[in-house]
Amino acid sequence: MSPTPDVRFATRAAIAEAARRIRDGVLVAFPTETVYGLGADAWNDRAVARVFEAKGRPSFNPLIVHVPDSAAAEVDVDVDDRARRLMDAFWPGPLTLVLSRRATSRLSRLVSAGLDTVAIRAPDHPVALALLHDAGRPIAAPSANPSGAISATSAADVARGLGDCVPLILDGGSCPIGVESTVVDLTRPEPAILRPGGVTAEELEALLGPLARPAEGPLTSPGQLSRHYAPRHPLRLDALCAGEGEVLLGFGPASPADVLNLSSSGDLREAAANLFAMLHRLDRLAPRGIAVMPIPEMGLGRAINDRLRRASAPPPNATPDDSQRDRNHWDDERGPSLPCVLPDISDDGE
Ligand code: TXA
Ligand code: MG
Repeated sequence: MSPTPDVRFATRAAIAEAARRIRDGVLVAFPTETVYGLGADAWNDRAVARVFEAKGRPSFNPLIVHVPDSAAAEVDVDVDDRARRLMDAFWPGPLTLVLSRRATSRLSRLVSAGLDTVAIRAPDHPVALALLHDAGRPIAAPSANPSGAISATSAADVARGLGDCVPLILDGGSCPIGVESTVVDLTRPEPAILRPGGVTAEELEALLGPLARPAEGPLTSPGQLSRHYAPRHPLRLDALCAGEGEVLLGFGPASPADVLNLSSSGDLREAAANLFAMLHRLDRLAPRGIAVMPIPEMGLGRAINDRLRRASAPPPNATPDDSQRDRNHWDDERGPSLPCVLPDISDDGE
């Protein structure tokens, strides 16, 4: 049996019901200011395991824990002076901090995939905050998309991507920021940006001084995998026009008028907010590929280009003969494919 997802407008009553389902170990997709999250009770190992199943995500990829505020974070992680300053400046907001897990934390070990660190953030979205309040516990939530695919910024894109793997989707409209949170590792002497995102490197450096940027080298955050956030069709970057069989994704006033434009005025915030929704739309349309106009490498443009570069990276071990039909299996975050197993707990609280 494959139940279709229950998509509900995020009214107060729907949020209270969703919180009850979270406490029962059921997965709930919910909006944040960045992208939609696929939420599970972060204390419950079985609920967290369902997230990996639903996304087809290998279990070595740790999840972000969502909390309402810094006081809630302090229950689970060590908050030093640097973390405190960042939380004061950017929380609630699109900044995830990787911090040391406290010995007394009740968080499921599966959340951090066996690491002694936890990635934690307070989302700046009224629905997410109300859900956290009602659930009365932290919520582990990766982006609500199949592993390796583009993140979802609307309830419809969550439903299309995860379909019958997510029992309940809270519809809170489009996500205002549209790219994921910035992930900063504070567990090393020099803070490092593991993933560019909604808070820019410039904003962080104004507070902390120079930061290590994402680098080649040993993998510390699976968000650094080179191929990630991939649409089904090939992506060509820095394009000025569409080639044969391609559709163009425009940016700025120089874009042709008859194509989807991330921001016709060249506003990087607007472009970030539109990015995933437009890629989803073009991925459904494109006969052969998507050509993307150049995006300036500054501010939020860095996060946008990071996502686009990963989406356009050649799949590992790809040969020129690999056919289009194989693309879905190239995503390196996906790892061995996992079955989508539906929650096996009863819904008798309904
Ligand atoms: O905006 C966001 O961050 C969204 C919304 C739903 O909050 N969430 C999101 O989660 O993008 P996810 O799971 O798709 O990405 C989490 C990133 C991954 O790159 C993961 O490897 C990294 O955070 N991460 C999680 N825990 C970590 C840890 N303990 N150490 C290093 N990196 C970690
Ligand atoms: Mg993700």
